Amino acid sequence: MATQKLLLLPGDGIGVEVMAEVKRLIAFLNQTGLASFETEEDLVGGAAYDAHGKAISEDAMKLADQADAVMFGAVGGPKWADVPYEARPEAGLLRLRKDLGLFANLRPAVCYPALAEASSLKRELVEGLDIMIVRELTGGVYFGEPKEIVTLENGEKRAVDTQVYTTHEIERIARVAFDLAKVRRGLVHSSEKHNVMKSGVLWKQVVTEVHKAEYADVKLEHILADNCGMQLVRTPKQFDVIVCDNLFGDMLSDVAAMLTGSLGMLPSAALGAEDAKTGKRKAMYEPVHGSAPDIAGKGLANPIATLASFGMALRYSFGLSEAADRLDAAISAVLSEGLRTKDIASAGQNAVSTGEMGAAVIKAMG
Ligand code: IPM
Ligand code: MG
Repeated sequence: MATQKLLLLPGDGIGVEVMAEVKRLIAFLNQTGLASFETEEDLVGGAAYDAHGKAISEDAMKLADQADAVMFGAVGGPKWADVPYEARPEAGLLRLRKDLGLFANLRPAVCYPALAEASSLKRELVEGLDIMIVRELTGGVYFGEPKEIVTLENGEKRAVDTQVYTTHEIERIARVAFDLAKVRRGLVHSSEKHNVMKSGVLWKQVVTEVHKAEYADVKLEHILADNCGMQLVRTPKQFDVIVCDNLFGDMLSDVAAMLTGSLGMLPSAALGAEDAKTGKRKAMYEPVHGSAPDIAGKGLANPIATLASFGMALRYSFGLSEAADRLDAAISAVLSEGLRTKDIASAGQNAVSTGEMGAAVIKAMG
């Protein structure tokens, strides 16, 4: 079996604890011969700032570029609230996305049957929920220039962020969404604000053209982003794949995440373009949740989002769908048995630690 190179970037806060469970899972896969991984580890976020004065070092960027995939934990925390804007922990994450060209962010929101009660919505609205949010990740208002705060002649300040998209950027993310819909339930909702934004007008037009030319077998609906947020909490099961820009995707994916009961459950994949020669894509996998500084270091974090992110790596980067299926089944089984970390435990239910949850998932794989 070919050895695969993985770079682990645990980051800050609970990122470190949840990544420890991924390391145990990798050791298990290597031992049992299900996979062969070689791992390296480096710093990102506040941890990198403390060590190097920047949110990610050039060495770490080089390792990320050379790796077959990157596993990312989480970044940020109150400790770094006052560091210069360019060196804030999030800058490390944004640089990885941008420099590795990871334009396609896949954020599945799946409601495990055992957890339907943990959702803030009624069981019947979320039971069996399976949505895929496809978020554009290297463009839009996150990276558009100018991006600045300037002082005007009258002494007032003026802040500018630029929302910008080109045809090519919209086409390639639309294709990712349509390709996924083809192997899912065949429905794409394209979400933008063409009623107030020029970028929304172009988005809608380009998605419509790609659909017409290449994906007539998939159903396409256009939905305004505000309505999409509303529909997600009204009747979430009407959706299959939702494709949207960077900022709307950030917001809608948090909304979708909460439908499933906990942010601690949701994985994500950030993928680059396929290399014409090797057929490989650059890729980074990370939980949707953040560094949760309030519970960091206490063994309270839920490792499932990060373990499931690693499952996405097995599937999308390494073609190990059998191992990925086994991992998904193990997570489901452990939840069905009633094991809960604190974030998904209902009142009065006993909660297990991060390590206990990780160990149980690995045991269920064996
Ligand atoms: C996410 C996060 C990031 C984003 C932050 C940490 C910069 O919220 O991955 O959704 O806004 O993209
Ligand atoms: Mg977010």
